[in-house]
Amino acid sequence: MTDDPNDITPKADYIKALRAHEANYPLLIGEAVDNALDVGATEISVEINTSHVVVSDGGPGVESARQKVFFQLGNHSPTIGGPIGRYGMGMKAQAIAAGSELKVLSTTHSETFAQHVNWNAVMKTGWRLSPPLITAPLSPHTGTQVVVMKLDKPPSGGVIARCREEIINMFFPALERCRITFNGETLAPLGLPEMSQVIECDVEVRPGKGAHVRAGLLAEAGGRQSEVSLVYGHRALRSQCDFGCGDYSGLTSMFALVELYEADGEKWLLQPFKNGLKDRDSDKLEDAIEDAIRPILEQCHAASMDIAADEMAEDLTASLAPELLPARPRKKKLITVKPPPPPPPKPPGPPGIVKDVLPDLEGPARATRAPHMIIEFVKGLHRTHGVGKFEPSRKLSRIQLARDDPWVSYWLGRRDREAAKSALHMAALAVYFYEKDCRQGDIEPFGFRLARLLARQISAARSVG
Ligand SMILES: Nc1ncnc2c1ncn2[C@@H]1O[C@H](COP(=O)(O)OP(=O)(O)O)[C@@H](O)[C@H]1O
Ligand SMILES: [Mg+2]
Repeated sequence: MTDDPNDITPKADYIKALRAHEANYPLLIGEAVDNALDVGATEISVEINTSHVVVSDGGPGVESARQKVFFQLGNHSPTIGGPIGRYGMGMKAQAIAAGSELKVLSTTHSETFAQHVNWNAVMKTGWRLSPPLITAPLSPHTGTQVVVMKLDKPPSGGVIARCREEIINMFFPALERCRITFNGETLAPLGLPEMSQVIECDVEVRPGKGAHVRAGLLAEAGGRQSEVSLVYGHRALRSQCDFGCGDYSGLTSMFALVELYEADGEKWLLQPFKNGLKDRDSDKLEDAIEDAIRPILEQCHAASMDIAADEMAEDLTASLAPELLPARPRKKKLITVKPPPPPPPKPPGPPGIVKDVLPDLEGPARATRAPHMIIEFVKGLHRTHGVGKFEPSRKLSRIQLARDDPWVSYWLGRRDREAAKSALHMAALAVYFYEKDCRQGDIEPFGFRLARLLARQISAARSVG
């Protein structure tokens, strides 16, 4: 065997490394469907089960003389239209990872050819194909069928269901004009969701290179078409993502369709398996989108802050340590042990206390009683009280955190709810102790109490998680 010191053709063993990758069925199907759409097919069928993955298209087919485009790594031949494939790797790399055999059957107007490769055999015999099997066209319709067989890890039912979902997500732009079937079912086009206050514009990052943006508030929040879909030609690179939305929250209440466009010589650079951008102008595009759709983002953020504040207030109130609740009147204990004294004529004192004590006679657990101290978020408090204040009352005391305080609203807007809850809980306790001790001259130092109560909070979190 010659060993040319200048020859750097990849060793056939390179296949071992590619085969060691976990099969990614949605990406494999995505790559094969991409190829079919790249050659202008309008009819595509996908079949996936535990023995094989088959993607067939009604495209123009490939002549046998060009058969190696399907098997040679790095072989990309430009196709009609604006193809998304660039590297000549997509379908092949995914096929090699998924199964040991790749079969292709392609029909043009003049012939049909069949070829197949077993990657384990290639490792022994080298990078070579046998001559293809060529016949007269087997069908009056042109097209290509790609089959991946001898699957290393056959897809489970769950994986197959996920493939269906991901194919709809990836190819929703194509579904508007092509028919794609998945295991016999024709996938329905999604159309645009119902939106209000729509903003439609082009954002340009260089002459001829940018994106057409359509964004609005959703009539119905959530769902497949919410947040941002980043689209390149027939393919959604990312769906339900926060591309171009900065730090705004509440994105499930909006939808933005971002369709990239480009000029010759100024093409968008995609990630190899097309699940995002890897382009020098990507950050610039995100900033431009954020500027363009800011009115929508601000509304989503404000609405989500209202909901977040309500939910957070409820959570924080529920996690208040029992000894924080103001001391109950001594009477209560006596009442529960002895029969109730004859009802007083009409207590002149605060009615809340009496009301609060009486239900205890029926004796439901403490937890089911209405709280007599709550944590709430209040607008317009920041200027006068900073983070918040404590409002004592014999009926219902309130720890009020200021919605308009930057620190409080920072935490309310955070996506990590547990971290936000801990921080806000601590602030609420600090406000409570500081103000309470100031007013009542309590003897135990604030710091000790805060530390003890926060330790309780951590141990409660541990015992739950
Ligand atoms: N279904 C198909 N119909 C016609 N040509 C195809 C088809 N699938 C793949 N090809 C050809 O094979 C080449 C390699 O495909 P692929 O490995 O996915 O890499 P890429 O799409 O990046 O070029 C494509 O450039 C195209 O010329
Ligand atoms: Mg491709």
